Formats: sequence, structure tokens, C-alpha cells
Amino acid sequence: MIKLNQLFADVRVLLLTLSLLVLAGCDVERRKSDAELGLNPQQAAGRKLYDNYCDRCHEPYSTHGKKGPGLKGIFKNQYLPLSGLPTNDDRIIDIVKYGRAKMEGFSQVMTDEQIKDLIAYLHTL
Ligand code: HEC
Repeated sequence: MIKLNQLFADVRVLLLTLSLLVLAGCDVERRKSDAELGLNPQQAAGRKLYDNYCDRCHEPYSTHGKKGPGLKGIFKNQYLPLSGLPTNDDRIIDIVKYGRAKMEGFSQVMTDEQIKDLIAYLHTL
């Protein structure tokens, strides 16, 4: 009986280790370098801003939602996924500056120049 318990414990440790390895593997695959993504300096600057201010609520490389909708391919679609607003620079700049519903605005946090960099990055998603 004791041996059987020990066996179950071992199997559990093994499964946990394996799932952690799989998760770590996914993470490595998901996070590409700026160079791998072919980002120019402006887009790379925008990516840093995205990491700082947007990533906690929006997935960049998935349409899967966090607190807000995933932004993968955001500029490739004619309309925004949640609000159905037309997708264009001016609309997105407004949303970033002034917010929407539960999303705060960032006009106090980022300069217009920085928001332009951010938009340049969003175009690469
Ligand atoms: C605290 C969480 C949070 C942060 C941080 C945040 N957002 Fe949002 N965002 C949301 C939520 C929630 C919505 C949905 C609002 C609504 O109900 O219309 C949203 C909506 C949006 C939309 C419109 C989507 C649609 O389909 O209408 C865009 C575009 C967007 N966010 C971009 C950004 C960008 C770019 C940043 C970084 C500057 C950012 N968000 C930061 C939570 C967040």
C-alpha cells in the first residue's frame, strides 16, 4: 500500500514536470524577438509600449481574449472584433487615447509620437 502511494506521488511529480516543460516550450515559441518579427525601429518601439501598457489585457498574437479582445490581425479586418467599429488609425488612436468602456485611456501616459509608434506595431499583428 505504501509503495502504491509512492508510485502515485512519483507519477504526479512526473506529470507536473512534463506539463511545466510543455508550457515553457509554448512560451518560448510565442515570444519572438523583434528581429524575427522583422520589426523596424519604430515598430520595435511600439512593441515595447504595447508590452508595458496593453499586453496585460490584450493578446498580441492570438484572437483569444484576456480582459479585452485579442488583437491578432487587428488591422487586417475591416471592423474591430468587439465594437464592430471600422478599423483605421484614427479610430484606434482615439480608443488608445480616451479608452472605451472598461478600458482606461492613455493620453496622460503616452505622447502622440509614442501612440504613433504603437499604431505602427499594431499594423504588424
Ligand atoms: C485594463 C485592461 C486593458 C488595457 C490595459 C488595455 N485595454 Fe484595450 N480594451 C480593454 C477592454 C475591456 C476592451 C473592451 C471595451 C468595450 O467593452 O468596448 C478594450 C478594447 C480595446 C479595443 C477595441 C476592440 C474592439 O473590438 O472594439 C482596442 C483596439 C484596444 N482595446 C486596444 C488597446 C491598446 C492598443 C492598449 C494599450 C495602449 C489597450 N487596449 C490597453 C481592456 C484593456
